[in-house]
Amino acid sequence: MFGKKGEPRTKRTLVDFRRMKAKGEKLTWITAYDLPLAQCAEAAGIDMILVGDSGGMVQLGYQTTNPVTMDEMITLAKAARKGAPNTFLVGDMPQGSYEVSKEEGIRNAMRFVKEAGCDAIKLEGGRRVADKVKAIAEAGILVIGHLGLTPQSTASFGGYRVQGKTIGGFEEVVEDALALQEAGIFCLLLEAMPTQPAAKLAQKLKIPVYGIGAGTDLDGQLIIMHDLLGLYASFRPWFAKCYIPQAAQRYEAHLAANPDLRKLGREDRADGLGYIAAEAISIYVDEVRSGAYPGEEYSYPLKAEELAELTRSKYW
Ligand code: KIV
Repeated sequence: MFGKKGEPRTKRTLVDFRRMKAKGEKLTWITAYDLPLAQCAEAAGIDMILVGDSGGMVQLGYQTTNPVTMDEMITLAKAARKGAPNTFLVGDMPQGSYEVSKEEGIRNAMRFVKEAGCDAIKLEGGRRVADKVKAIAEAGILVIGHLGLTPQSTASFGGYRVQGKTIGGFEEVVEDALALQEAGIFCLLLEAMPTQPAAKLAQKLKIPVYGIGAGTDLDGQLIIMHDLLGLYASFRPWFAKCYIPQAAQRYEAHLAANPDLRKLGREDRADGLGYIAAEAISIYVDEVRSGAYPGEEYSYPLKAEELAELTRSKYW
């Protein structure tokens, strides 16, 4: 364990997620695609890990998530599971693994569970994939929906653009979310939406709604590991906070307090990058739980006239 940060703990369950929502406790969620960073996330006490198809970009070097294959996702998920045996692990269905038929969707979702030891799967899309969601959920696999900016469909959005700012866009997302809830998802991830429409949408659902770039008022928060660590050179969305500056300060204090770092490195793995990454993730965990992150600073703004238009929606 990096720096012996946390006590071994039991894996979170669906019951915990519902209880946390009921009590207003924010869920903490991060991506991981390999053994060491999954270990860091578990050591930092994260609630949930996503083996995202973003791993195709940040780990495998593709330009987008579209080329990622199911076999590649299984390899990444197996490594993450080995690193985080006691953390709720979600496998992200890559493009092409669930759209063709319900049977293929079930087969591939089942691979995440049986081959990689995942606890749930996530997939992108709303009404167009609701039949696949229902089939996978009825096969006994926990499903997470993903709406708003869905990276597998960026070509149809005209790039990475903030969603839900117009009446039309907002109503589409609400209808997709209601269809997914009906189809059996146990929670929803919203990506790249301003706080107000994201929160309004969440109020319409019974299930927990988590956000990545979706403002301050949801039930929990996801971040991409490589954004949090400042480890992806090509791109970083501005709603993603890099926690290395804060972790570096803690590391400096740790160095000052522990002159015999060689011993700590050998016994506690508390001398190097793993220690710093676990510190960075644990600061993220604390900030999400306290509500300090994302805050307004890391949320998309909405102009007064855009909000005024949205309030005329039948779903407002
Ligand atoms: O693949 C991923 O990491 C994701 C997030 C961008 C939400 O789906």
